[in-house]
Amino acid sequence: MEFKRLRRLRQTKALRELFCETRLNSKEFILPLFIDDGKNVFERMPGLDGIVKVSVDRLQEALEEVKKADIGGLILFGVTSQKDEMGSYATRDDGAVQQAIRRIKEYSEDILVLADVCLCEYTSHGHCGILKGDKIDNDKTIEVLSRIALSYAKAGADIICPSDMMDGRVAAIRKKLDSHGFEYVPIIPYSAKFASSFYAPFREVANSRPAFGDRKSYQMPYQNKREALREIEADILEGADAVIIKPALTSLDVVSAAREKFNIPIIAYNVSGEYAMVKSAGKLGFLNEEEVVIEILTAIKRAGADAIITYHALEAAKILNRKE
Ligand code: PBG
Ligand code: ZN
Repeated sequence: MEFKRLRRLRQTKALRELFCETRLNSKEFILPLFIDDGKNVFERMPGLDGIVKVSVDRLQEALEEVKKADIGGLILFGVTSQKDEMGSYATRDDGAVQQAIRRIKEYSEDILVLADVCLCEYTSHGHCGILKGDKIDNDKTIEVLSRIALSYAKAGADIICPSDMMDGRVAAIRKKLDSHGFEYVPIIPYSAKFASSFYAPFREVANSRPAFGDRKSYQMPYQNKREALREIEADILEGADAVIIKPALTSLDVVSAAREKFNIPIIAYNVSGEYAMVKSAGKLGFLNEEEVVIEILTAIKRAGADAIITYHALEAAKILNRKE
């Protein structure tokens, strides 16, 4: 019987390297960084040793690590106790995130700064929008989000990333930025963001759990792939420059389908719960953490992601850039 000897090209390391289809580069990783509005904060979260929460006065230490690791950039989230119904802290030009953006840009123009735009870290009720009764007021929310986006752009953010999942926010933010001279600041929205239990560690760090109900009236049902593609299409039509899909590991089919369907850069967000699973299994000795991290990031890239937001960014960069 005739058969194909596909193993021929796997016989040596040199052959495997020549025909390697997916290579990782540390420049494709974006590290989430939590900016605390307090003083003298520099924390690695319990059980999540890579996530760093820093106050502006200790930002420098985190930046030195980031610079050394040679990663693609940072995505910033705010942590504050100054919350109200409208999330008004987020629009303050002297807010912690705005100050952090300025500091990072002073420290190094080369560190790309993505600013996550949402209300859940700033509202007393913990929802990603402004409430009218117990419902989200979509159109009021996108007005506030565009003010937050403008404040981040003024501070010097390189990219604006709305993560709220309201309808029409990309168009509203684009209009706001353009009318203030920020025509060249890209908007990269979380276009397909599923309502997921994998965000739990993030909400712990950011203190952003909804006080009542859940996020299912705005974040997407994870059962729906076609709807995810419609969300992406809508955001492209509104002017998105690239899109974010999350969580990464439970959405590889969506990443792959979006890659086929749209000619736009795709960022996958390897979220906090995905990170926590790997970290805890590694700590217990159930698997080789370094190998698993690289395997996971490679799989996300193979699915079609151009870049990956991941809490593994620094350690993965170290692994890849290690001289043997
Ligand atoms: C804010 C936001 C969240 C994440 C990114 N932006 C939390 C949420 O939607 O509840 C989650 C990221 C993670 O789990 O790492 N809307
Ligand atoms: Zn939110």
